[in-house]
Amino acid sequence: MTEGGDWQRDVLRELADTPAAPASTGPVEASPPMPPAPVDPRLPSPPPQPASPTRPVPRGTRDPRLPLPTPESVPTVDPRLAHALGRPQHGDSLTQRTGRSLRRLTTSAGQDVAEQTYLATELQQPVTTGRIIAVTSIRGGVGKSTVSALLGRTFNHYRHDPVLTLEADAALGTLPVRMGAESVRWSCADLAQILTPAMQLTDVTGYLVPVADGGWLLPAGQGRVGAPMDVRTYRTVTLALRRYFAVTVVDCESLPGDVARTAMDTAHARVVVAPMTAEGVNGTRQVLNWLAQLPHAALASTAVALSASSPDTTLDEKTAATHLREAGVAVVSLPYDRHLAQGGPIHTVMLGQATRDAAVRLAAEAMHRAVRVR
Ligand SMILES: Nc1ncnc2c1ncn2[C@@H]1O[C@H](COP(=O)(O)OP(=O)(O)O)[C@@H](O)[C@H]1O
Ligand SMILES: [Mg+2]
Repeated sequence: MTEGGDWQRDVLRELADTPAAPASTGPVEASPPMPPAPVDPRLPSPPPQPASPTRPVPRGTRDPRLPLPTPESVPTVDPRLAHALGRPQHGDSLTQRTGRSLRRLTTSAGQDVAEQTYLATELQQPVTTGRIIAVTSIRGGVGKSTVSALLGRTFNHYRHDPVLTLEADAALGTLPVRMGAESVRWSCADLAQILTPAMQLTDVTGYLVPVADGGWLLPAGQGRVGAPMDVRTYRTVTLALRRYFAVTVVDCESLPGDVARTAMDTAHARVVVAPMTAEGVNGTRQVLNWLAQLPHAALASTAVALSASSPDTTLDEKTAATHLREAGVAVVSLPYDRHLAQGGPIHTVMLGQATRDAAVRLAAEAMHRAVRVR
């Protein structure tokens, strides 16, 4: 496991010792290293270059010398609808914001500082190989993409190495919109055919969507109803991309889909989003019982996001959290937030304070588990 050390330097060292190997569909842990990040990934990248024609083409992969036809760029929201999105609302009311500013002037910030230092240390932990954090839930519409986007943005804010948010849910997911992408072009299925061990980070990022405040996004598709992503594509893409990205947050389909099950089984840490309802918490507990049967300390490396996506929830939050914690997982409550409720791109500055705190806490819990728990 991977405590200490500088991620990119370690990858460089691994590279010097290990010849590059083809992307395979084997277990994630068996992944050989790929070339390191040569430049700051947040800089604009040149268009993708095909791999050197002198390299042999690994068996079972596409010949990278034959270019894949470039898909058209598709807007994530129909321009006729984009006008109807409305102004972003702040997660907190004006009264809440004013009250907090006044409290800040009168109370000691000592405890806050200690807590924030602890969270930042967890979030900024160095990694020697990319960590994968898979996000799923028992059904759709409970906040998987919202939580994935919050995690992706939080990691990107705290870390200086490359962060990827990957959509592994072909059910017309909302991740690209939530991440603020105006259009998408290349999908996971495309990259499964394109990625080769010879590619450098700048080649890879040519196929990804740059996120406005940093980091990268890979959508599952182009927002059309199509073939769902398969396990082979998921494995190929995550195996290849984890060599370039310190943290990959995967927005999975709902359980018990094959890709979600594979993602939960192979990730370094898992986040299960539980709706704040009795049946949601009950169903999530069943998922945790299933996770307990998986190898690799699956439960110990799981955090639950208890998400209130309605202002009218009546379930007692403490009782719900205790019920889930009994299974042996960390639980972080994500409050109802007006800005999240309105849909559309998530603007971090518009989130309520409690939502921001919950996102940082959840990301820290997930990172702690992805690096330290095995
Ligand atoms: N914490 C929250 N507060 C308010 N609304 C939320 C919250 N989380 C999710 N939502 C609402 O739920 C909707 C569905 O969330 P989404 O992340 O797309 O679910 P999933 O990916 O699980 O299908 C969002 O568009 C948003 O309106
Ligand atoms: Mg979704």
